[in-house]
Amino acid sequence: MRLVLLGPPGAGKGTQSVVLAKKYALPHISTGDILRESVKSGQPLGLQAKKFMDKGELVPDEVVTGIVVERLKKSDTMKGYILDGFPRTLKQAEDLDRAIKGAGSGIDLVLYFATSSAVAIERLTGRRVCRSCGQNYHVKNIPPKKEGICDKCGGELYQRPDDNEATVRNRLKVYEDQTKPLIDYYARQGILKRVSGDMGVDELFKVLSKVFSDAKLV
Ligand code: AP5
Ligand code: MG
Repeated sequence: MRLVLLGPPGAGKGTQSVVLAKKYALPHISTGDILRESVKSGQPLGLQAKKFMDKGELVPDEVVTGIVVERLKKSDTMKGYILDGFPRTLKQAEDLDRAIKGAGSGIDLVLYFATSSAVAIERLTGRRVCRSCGQNYHVKNIPPKKEGICDKCGGELYQRPDDNEATVRNRLKVYEDQTKPLIDYYARQGILKRVSGDMGVDELFKVLSKVFSDAKLV
């Protein structure tokens, strides 16, 4: 099953990806996570990307598409994958289509998580992430048992530098301008499924599981 998770910042793409990846044994490929990893390890790619990420702007298409196309060559993607946060521009979507169709495959389903800006802002400004294992929390919606500490690994929780309100608002604007046209792009291909990203985590997961069985993907 080759999936794309599409939706505004804060729609819950990362949260659902982790659960889906576990249930269906698929690799979770998040361009945001890959870029943040490069920033953390001080790679030249990370230094270049950080300038864009901190402002809530998109990293140039050729950089991000290159990363994904290389990642999709790994053998763990043979049975499928979950793309989280990629593609995000029409150019990325067209280049992805060319790359995978050239390799004889295509995207099976694009899940569009429709979420209001108010929900996205509330979620992102309250998000906390584990520095060690990357687990996501929310100060109110999904709090850790002990404040500031990851339930899973005991690591320190931090706030992403792009999760302040001003940067979140810019990320939402960038999404409206550059990513939203992908909804039509994939609808025209007949592979878009709209779900409400405003539901609770478990409720949404159940809806997605039904979408896959209805579409005979599992
Ligand atoms: P990226 O890391 O992809 O960030 P994003 O798209 O802005 O999305 P988020 O990760 O903020 O939201 P999400 O939908 O994953 O929500 P989450 O599950 O975490 O990208 C960061 C930056 O990298 C970009 O700005 C850009 O600079 C660069 N970049 C990345 N990809 C790129 C690309 N393709 N091209 C160019 N540049 C690129 O949930 C959010 C919060 O809500 C959490 O606290 C969570 O616990 C909580 N939550 C989740 N689901 C629910 C729910 N159902 N109910 C209640 N709370 C929930
Ligand atoms: Mg994410």
